[in-house]
Amino acid sequence: MKRTIIGITVILLSACSTRDNYKIPEYSGKNIAFEKLPYSLDALSPHISPKALYFHYSKHYLGYVKKADAAIAESSYAGKNVEDIIRSTWMIQEPPYKKIYNNTAQAWNHAFFWKSMAPAKEKVTMPEELQKKVTADFGSVEKFISAFRDAANNHFGSGWVFLAEKDGKLSLLSLSDAGNPIPQGYKPLLALDVWEHSYYLDYQNERAKYTDAFLNHLVNWDFALQNLKL
Ligand SMILES: [Fe+2]
Repeated sequence: MKRTIIGITVILLSACSTRDNYKIPEYSGKNIAFEKLPYSLDALSPHISPKALYFHYSKHYLGYVKKADAAIAESSYAGKNVEDIIRSTWMIQEPPYKKIYNNTAQAWNHAFFWKSMAPAKEKVTMPEELQKKVTADFGSVEKFISAFRDAANNHFGSGWVFLAEKDGKLSLLSLSDAGNPIPQGYKPLLALDVWEHSYYLDYQNERAKYTDAFLNHLVNWDFALQNLKL
C-alpha cells in the first residue's frame, strides 16, 4: 500500500514538474496567429519528448510568429491573408520581402506540422481512402512510405517534406529552409519538419530514427485525407 502511494506521488510530481517547467507562453499576433498546440506537451512521448516539443513550439515556432508579425506590421501586407503574403513574397530576395516570406512561411509550416501529428499510437494506420489514392500515385503504400522516408532522410540541410496534391496527383516535395508548397500551386496535405531543431534534443544527429518515429507512431493521416478533400 505504502509503495503504491509513493508511486502515485512520484507520477503526480512528474506531471506537475512537466507543467511547471514547460509553461506554454501566450502571444496574440495582430497579423498572424500563434496557433494552439492541438495536444498536450507529453502527447507525443516517448517519440518526441515534452522538452523537445516545448522548445520547438514555444521557442522556434513562437519566434517565427513574432518576427513575421513585426515584419508584416511594418509593410504594406499588414492585415492581409497569410497565404496571400506567402504567395506574394515568395522568390523576392530583397529586404523586407525575404524576411517577411521566411518568417511567415516558417510560422505557417509549423502550425501545419503540429496538425500533421496526433497523440502517439502503438502503430498508426492509414485510412483506406488515402491508401487507395497513395497506391494509385506511388504504386503501393509500402513504396510511398519508403519514398517519404528517403525524402526526409536524404534532404540536405534544413527544410521540410510535404505531401501535396496538384492536378489530381499526389507528390512528395523536399523543400529547403522555409519552402512552402502553396506558391507553386500545390495543395498541402501533410508536413514533416526536418530542421535539426525539430529532432536534435531527442535523437541528436539521427534523423532517420525521428523520421521512423513520425511515420510509425505520430503521423496524422486523417488530417492529410481531410486536406485532400478540401
Ligand atoms: Fe521547426
